[in-house]
Amino acid sequence: MTETPALAMHEVCRDFRRPRTSLRTAPPVVHAVRDVTVDIAPGERFGIVGESGSGKSTLLRLLCGLDQPSSGSIEITGRPIHDQPARRLGWLRETLQLVFQDPMSSLDPRMRVRDIVAEPLVAQGQGSARERRDRVVELLDAVGMPGEAADRYPHQFSGGQRQRISVARALAPAPAILVADEPVSALDVSVRAQVLNLIDDVVEQFGLTLVFVSHDLSVVRHVCDRVAVMRQGEFVEVAPTEQLFADPQHPYTQSLLAAVPDLHAALAGRAAADLARGAREATPPQ
Ligand SMILES: Nc1ncnc2c1ncn2[C@@H]1O[C@H](COP(=O)(O)OP(=O)(O)O)[C@@H](O)[C@H]1O
Ligand SMILES: [Mg+2]
Repeated sequence: MTETPALAMHEVCRDFRRPRTSLRTAPPVVHAVRDVTVDIAPGERFGIVGESGSGKSTLLRLLCGLDQPSSGSIEITGRPIHDQPARRLGWLRETLQLVFQDPMSSLDPRMRVRDIVAEPLVAQGQGSARERRDRVVELLDAVGMPGEAADRYPHQFSGGQRQRISVARALAPAPAILVADEPVSALDVSVRAQVLNLIDDVVEQFGLTLVFVSHDLSVVRHVCDRVAVMRQGEFVEVAPTEQLFADPQHPYTQSLLAAVPDLHAALAGRAAADLARGAREATPPQ
């Protein structure tokens, strides 16, 4: 028997109706996600790359049960979610957690870090107050933050540190799957490599399945084993990362790769430079 995929999507579509106020010439329906079929294996690091508006965030919302597909099926660890209302998906929050692009708007400014990180545990009624306190310190340590951070508020931290806090919160219920939507796009270039390395580390350390979305090919290349190229709601090409970069099959993938002159060399150079910079700035984390 083959292993149950961590995530399985079969012919998934999500259409949106345009508001009445839009131009008369515009089509009445936006096909934000079209006919996406893919199995993602446990422990796989799957990247989705595409330009702004290609449907990446819409697809992730479907994967997280925050929205339902217009048609098609989605199973997470073998359990269907596409036909379930959010209230029936409590189990999903223990299996799959999200990290968003902008840590400033995704962290409640009025909450202390300890309550932010413990929130998923409280929501699921996991552990006593004392156990949750200990778990928060453990999680902060896992993302390279000092225990004292627990008593502070999000605005007291830099963008990179806030994204570390988001990762700690996502790890709190010990999920099997981490889903990240452009997790470093809002960060300064100098701290991107650090946060990417952190995601790399926690995925390795906790044996997670990763679904990682970015518009930036170099970022996806850095963290993923396999990449889907998304265009106008469709996966136009899915291939192991190195194969996609070395031998892109679809004309659109080829044009993405060609859009930046000598991207291959630039990527290799940039990844090395980012890593070196990340290592230099490793303590204290930014
Ligand atoms: N709630 C919504 N209502 C109407 N259109 C939407 C909605 N969400 C997304 N869209 C449209 O779906 C398309 C894909 O958007 P999105 O998934 O946000 O792309 P990406 O994350 O790749 O930038 C865009 O045309 C966007 O305008
Ligand atoms: Mg998006």
